[in-house]
Amino acid sequence: MAKTLPYGRQSVTEADINAVVDVLRGPFWTTGPKVLAFEEALAEVTEADHCVSVSNGTAALQILYQAAGLTCGDVIIVPAITFLATANAAEFLGARAVFADVDPQSGLMTPETFAAAIDRYPEARYAVAVHLNGRSCDMQGLAELAHANDVMLFEDAAHALGSQTRADNEVVPVGKNAFSAGSCFSFHPVKTVAMGEGGAITFQDAATAERARLLRSHGMSRNKNTAHELLLDDDGQLEPWCYVMDQPGHNVRVTDIQCALGLSQLARLPETIEIRRCHVQQYNERFADHAELVFPVASEDIDVTTWHLYPILCQAGRAARAALYRALRDQHINPQIHYIPLPLQPYFKGRCDMNQIPGAISYYERCLSLPLYVGLTPEDIDRVADTVIDFLEVFSEP
Ligand SMILES: Cc1ncc(COP(=O)(O)O)c(C=O)c1O
Repeated sequence: MAKTLPYGRQSVTEADINAVVDVLRGPFWTTGPKVLAFEEALAEVTEADHCVSVSNGTAALQILYQAAGLTCGDVIIVPAITFLATANAAEFLGARAVFADVDPQSGLMTPETFAAAIDRYPEARYAVAVHLNGRSCDMQGLAELAHANDVMLFEDAAHALGSQTRADNEVVPVGKNAFSAGSCFSFHPVKTVAMGEGGAITFQDAATAERARLLRSHGMSRNKNTAHELLLDDDGQLEPWCYVMDQPGHNVRVTDIQCALGLSQLARLPETIEIRRCHVQQYNERFADHAELVFPVASEDIDVTTWHLYPILCQAGRAARAALYRALRDQHINPQIHYIPLPLQPYFKGRCDMNQIPGAISYYERCLSLPLYVGLTPEDIDRVADTVIDFLEVFSEP
């Protein structure tokens, strides 16, 4: 039987395994030195001033939103094509997600679709850009609009560790926050760096990062200024065993075990990026002569993107995509659809008219993510590409 190819999967080396085992043999399983080392390493890769690790990408979004001030009754603009978590993290805080359309070819929120959403929802004081598939949004264009309209902009970079944002004639790492209040990452197994579960937020602003640090761990601090007098010693200092809670927080820490794995994976990020880019190029070459059947979403910005997914758009539309999905699965190739537009979910019913998100509907109806991960072989990619092309050629015959 042909080997099963998932759309994404982790890669693991002996060095990864040894790194985890070392922590297991040691004294610190959580809140230890590997957590700090991982945060430092991620800040270095992203050129961010501050990094706060958390238990997953969803927690990262929620802590970022909350630390930055989003609260009950606020409105946040979210692109219609993203994973549920981008919006849910705001909904948990009692805020209301409203939706921006996306470009039908890239799936990204653009300055044009963002401007339309700002016009539609003038009450929105927050917005989040999603670097879908790993490709950066036009952050400079989005930030100009956000600034002009008094909107605080965040980045959901769950797909985009190692990618770069173009700005004027420069490129800046995603996560540096050159154009936003903070960026969130996920280290789920299908991501470029995997920790089982894991997440992180990068910040420019020290005070917001500090609030995030408190929020991830019960809101506990050693703030002697607000401490009850019974917690102070004779010199007015906090007793050494005391903790102070000014605001309730969550428990969304990531462990040293996970961070040891993350550090080991981060160390080979440049290699991982190269391999993923090679796979993308091989797919693109295979599809180059079949433009009437397949549009590879990864046909632009290859050099500045760490592709997390390899989506194609089926030019023949919805029925072709649905049939191709089934045909691939019959051949033990497991594609995925990223994503169902959020306004189609029952929970968001009535939040936006479908005619306000034509780009998102068009992208959704044609998109299909093909296998992309480090362990794929050139033969695997040829097998997937052959299956796609052969099927679509027959499907599209008059
Ligand atoms: C765009 C996007 N944002 C946020 C998340 C949430 O990350 P996690 O699964 O680590 O909670 C994901 C997860 O896949 C995602 O794809």
